[in-house]
Amino acid sequence: MKKILVTGASGFVGSRFVERWRNEYVMLTPTHAELDVTDAVQVERYIVENAPLVVVHLAAISNTGYCEQNPDESYRVNVESVCNLAAACARNGVKLVFFSSDQVYNGNYESGPLSEDVEVCPETVYGKHKLEAEQRALELCPTAVALRASWMYDVERYGMPVHQNFVLAIEKAIKERSPLVYPVREHRGITWVRDVVEFLPATFSIEGGVYNYGAGCTMDTYETACCYCEMLVGLQSGPLLQPDYARYPEHERNLSMSTDKIFRASGGRVCFGSTMDGLRIFADINGLCR
Ligand SMILES: NC(=O)c1ccc[n+]([C@@H]2O[C@H](COP(=O)([O-])OP(=O)(O)OC[C@H]3O[C@@H](n4cnc5c(N)ncnc54)[C@H](OP(=O)(O)O)[C@@H]3O)[C@@H](O)[C@H]2O)c1
Repeated sequence: MKKILVTGASGFVGSRFVERWRNEYVMLTPTHAELDVTDAVQVERYIVENAPLVVVHLAAISNTGYCEQNPDESYRVNVESVCNLAAACARNGVKLVFFSSDQVYNGNYESGPLSEDVEVCPETVYGKHKLEAEQRALELCPTAVALRASWMYDVERYGMPVHQNFVLAIEKAIKERSPLVYPVREHRGITWVRDVVEFLPATFSIEGGVYNYGAGCTMDTYETACCYCEMLVGLQSGPLLQPDYARYPEHERNLSMSTDKIFRASGGRVCFGSTMDGLRIFADINGLCR
């Protein structure tokens, strides 16, 4: 069985990845205390001593608001750790797969699904740091794979951690009958983490580079919320959701991604559907549909 080092294995994506694939791979899952990825010496030593074939680097500060408030810490974890792993992987012939984010597109003005080759100019600390991490990691380790993930969701399961996310916010609003406001001038893919985890091994053998990696999006965020809510509670969803026309006044926020590149590179094995398809399957499997 292939040996894989998973950083951030206690996190939202990491815990689900390990749970899904632990019988197919030998998983090395050091905790933050056992391997601090911001320490280049520790990273190099760990890779030399344990000789994984692949590193799935998920350790990060994923809270965008926290990064905005704590840019130095964000830089250390979201940029420098990726460089540490990229350098160690290049030196030791290890395949590196790490997570970037659709937030690299948050300064883009054009509409429609964005491809990896559009020029990007992120406006937030998190987006800027994710972009710098991609660029520097690929310079250090050209075989590395950077996956631009979109906003992910799941419910809490088997004690695995879950962040506040789209489906939990709607579930809470329905339960408490407290209205939610969603922007109309925003397009973004929202992805069930199950798909993200399911497709990951197919990225271990693709060529190095940057890849969009998440569900497609044809609706604005308010429309997506309305459709999902209607699936759960029918027409009563009306008063629960309110459109926000004022948010993003300068230009529409478009984070929707085309995944053609990774579909081709993986020979069709990485195959994300639309955000709404994902939500429909998620609600169905979890017995949430009315
Ligand atoms: N969640 C999303 O919706 C989303 C969307 C787009 C992209 N992403 C990206 O996807 C990746 C995984 O995100 P996630 O949501 O799974 O993150 P998460 O739940 O916040 O987990 C982050 C993990 O990183 C570990 N960590 C933090 N600093 C560390 C350090 N210095 N050394 C070692 N481990 C450290 C944490 O361990 P401790 O808690 O013990 O510190 C935790 O296990 C990240 O790159 C994130 O930016 C996430």
